[in-house]
Amino acid sequence: MSYIKKIAKSPYRITEVNLSSPVLLKKIYKIINKIICKKINFNSLKDLKKLTLNDIEKINNDIRGRYQSEVFNIFKKDIMKIINQQYSEKKLNLRIGVQAKYIWKKKASNSKRVLSFDKSGVWRESLNLPNSCFPTRPHQDLSNNGFRSSSIIIFFIQLSKKTKKSSMLEVAKFNSKQFLEKTYNYSGYENEIAKSVNNKKKWIIPSALKPGKMLLMDSMTCHRSGKFAELPRIALNVKFQPTNLFYIYKSLGLKNNLKKIKGKKDRLLRLANDLESLVKYNHGLHFELSITHHLLKNYKLSKKFMKKLFYKQPSNNMCKKYIAGGILRKTLKEISAKDIKNIYKNNYQIANLSCAQSIYNTIQ
Ligand SMILES: [Fe+2]
Repeated sequence: MSYIKKIAKSPYRITEVNLSSPVLLKKIYKIINKIICKKINFNSLKDLKKLTLNDIEKINNDIRGRYQSEVFNIFKKDIMKIINQQYSEKKLNLRIGVQAKYIWKKKASNSKRVLSFDKSGVWRESLNLPNSCFPTRPHQDLSNNGFRSSSIIIFFIQLSKKTKKSSMLEVAKFNSKQFLEKTYNYSGYENEIAKSVNNKKKWIIPSALKPGKMLLMDSMTCHRSGKFAELPRIALNVKFQPTNLFYIYKSLGLKNNLKKIKGKKDRLLRLANDLESLVKYNHGLHFELSITHHLLKNYKLSKKFMKKLFYKQPSNNMCKKYIAGGILRKTLKEISAKDIKNIYKNNYQIANLSCAQSIYNTIQ
């Protein structure tokens, strides 16, 4: 079964895979020890205690910065193998991110804190402390990625020991279908899952969160980090964003007959029909289906399918915002009232790397 299918079938919308060799871990631990100029065994709780905030920030900065390609090369083969099995991409643009969290007191978990933005426009939980001193708020990634795709794959690689003493990544079970959950903007974080939903959901630390495994999740997976942190945690993530929809044929077992159809409009219509036949297996594809109908100017159908993506009926405006995001590759925060007007007046340009562009790339 393809990983995309496995993720769509999972009640937590995740799956896992083993790293090909323990040597990969040895290599990454060596780099991290070089970054912090210490010899830390990341599988020892006693050693994790020795990490300072300065070490955590150094790890966060240097893996994103000067060690980016060296670290990526360690996991490249494993990751490319999975991507090439599932997707049809000519050129891959992957970046490695780091998820190093420090420790905090209970009150840091209070999400009433209002977000600040630093000089370069990056959001901050506090201007006094780095984001690594706060848990990640519960959310689904669709907006965070500029609505590029419901099938973005995130490879999450836990490096420090799995322990409840660290703030581990947590994922939540869906009650029925894999919907977009109700969100509420408490503090400037636009797609934070509403407290009423967050409190009722069953959150778990996935079994794949231990050194030697990779957790795979996508834009629909509900995730957050654990509220309490007595010990630091270190993990990596690699995000893959598809630039076409050929994966619905390659990984979900549908025959691709697009090439046999003459005319772009008819091909677009065929793609919409294909997506509609697949939404029962992968609920997230309602997003691509809605955007495809918008491109066909079937605005009623576009709205109807977008609404189906949500657990609780969203307002019309919310729905239009998500559609605009899929065309303009903007996050919820960036979409203006003018953007929404323009996408219904045919006064817009499809953004590079947007969901709409990935749809056109599929029917060219
Ligand atoms: Fe996220």
